[in-house]
Amino acid sequence: MSTNGFKLDSGEKREDYSSLLAVGLGLALLMLIALAVYWIGDPPRLQAAAASLSQERIERGDALYASQCASCHGLEGEGGLGPALKNRTVLKNTPDEIFFSVIRSGVPNTQMPSWSVDFGGPLTDEDIQDLVALLRSWEATAPEILPQQRQPDPAQGTLLFASTCALCHGENGSGGSPGVPALNAPERLEKFDDDWYRSVIANGRPARGMPTWGTVLSPAQIDDLVALLSAWRDGREIQPAYSMADLLDQALFALSENDNESALLRLSRALEASTGRQAELLREIQAQITSGDAPGAVQSLAALKENWPPGDPQAGAQIYAVQCASCHGPQGEGGIGKALQASNFIQSQSTAELVTLIQEGRPGTLMAGFADRLSEQEIADIVAWVRELQK
Ligand code: HEC
Ligand code: HEC
Ligand code: HEC
Repeated sequence: MSTNGFKLDSGEKREDYSSLLAVGLGLALLMLIALAVYWIGDPPRLQAAAASLSQERIERGDALYASQCASCHGLEGEGGLGPALKNRTVLKNTPDEIFFSVIRSGVPNTQMPSWSVDFGGPLTDEDIQDLVALLRSWEATAPEILPQQRQPDPAQGTLLFASTCALCHGENGSGGSPGVPALNAPERLEKFDDDWYRSVIANGRPARGMPTWGTVLSPAQIDDLVALLSAWRDGREIQPAYSMADLLDQALFALSENDNESALLRLSRALEASTGRQAELLREIQAQITSGDAPGAVQSLAALKENWPPGDPQAGAQIYAVQCASCHGPQGEGGIGKALQASNFIQSQSTAELVTLIQEGRPGTLMAGFADRLSEQEIADIVAWVRELQK
């Protein structure tokens, strides 16, 4: 019974809805027609107008580029004195506003001049927009330009060798445990080329006791090791490039063994490679050791290692104002470059990591490396100042 009644009910309701539905459908159809008319009508004209406007912009930009920029950035944007601008990675990573600002204000202390009339240059904002439109029009066809590869360094290879390989292959590759070949053996190395060695190191021979290093070491580290083997093949003696962190570690270890002599020796090695504030701090630690304050020396050394390389924030503030403020803001508040003030990124990085980042830059972005413009000490000074900004 109740099922029957239910059916009747729903039957009645269905009839009520269908008239409403018809009206709704009619309205929807009308809207569709209106939309279709709209789509067929206006926008193509608007799009065409926009396209010809941007085509005009690109053409004007092209003429400006040829007269003002090609001498440094290459006739086709392929680069020359200035970096390649027809570079997909850079174009993809750089929004129009940033190109606009950089072209307006230039890059301080480089050959890249300021172009805006506001900074004494020859171009109006309108001109600069034309140039940005031109650069943008290159994006679709620009080649991917890979950042310059770093050169493999056998001296870095010796450090890795000492910490990772010498255990089995002997100090300086002279041969160690039974069944493990000596690697510092020119006749043996002659038999195979660098590619062969790269692949043996990366893949290892796990069944025969040679670990697989490809999963542990970076390709650059393996290249350093191959460069070391290659130097040994030529009978060259490679001096280890002790990193400062290693020397400080060794000095700390020596102190923990009450071996003051050895600690002083490590520190004097570190001193040979230091100047300015770094050298000053190292001398203070040496003085602590010679005056018998070993615990104090351990404390200062540990702090120094944590913050290596040390910098002078006041000197850093001055260098920052000249080299970095135009992009990162006078107080690190950000601009073309990211904010460096109260930055999680800065706080998550060690001083050594930040120095390396500033030396190498971020390939494919406007953050160029400063290794060729600033010394390590100057960069350490900037980092010390940027650290103060976090407070
Ligand atoms: C006298 C040489 C010179 C001229 C002329 C010149 N530039 Fe540059 N430009 C450079 C140099 C050098 C750099 C790299 C600066 C640096 O080291 O960060 C650069 C950087 C740039 C950058 C940032 C790109 C990047 O990847 O770092 C843009 C964009 C740029 N120039 C656009 C232009 C435009 C547009 C013109 C013409 C209006 C122009 N430049 C004219 C030398 C020049
Ligand atoms: C745990 C011990 C061990 C460590 C650590 C080790 N190796 Fe080996 N390695 C071996 C053994 C064992 C062989 C010989 C494998 C065989 O007989 O085929 C070998 C072979 C090699 C060979 C081939 C030599 C030849 O002439 O056939 C190279 C190259 C090599 N190791 C490089 C390295 C490098 C570089 C490191 C450090 C990143 C390293 N090894 C670390 C044990 C080790
Ligand atoms: C031409 C503009 C420009 C100049 C000059 C410049 N930077 Fe940058 N910097 C950038 C840009 C753009 C980025 C962001 C790159 C990216 O997209 O990852 C950046 C990123 C950074 C970062 C990483 C920040 C983060 O949160 O990822 C640090 C640190 C930095 N710059 C420090 C410096 C220092 C120090 C100087 C001066 C020695 C400097 N920059 C000069 C444009 C610049």
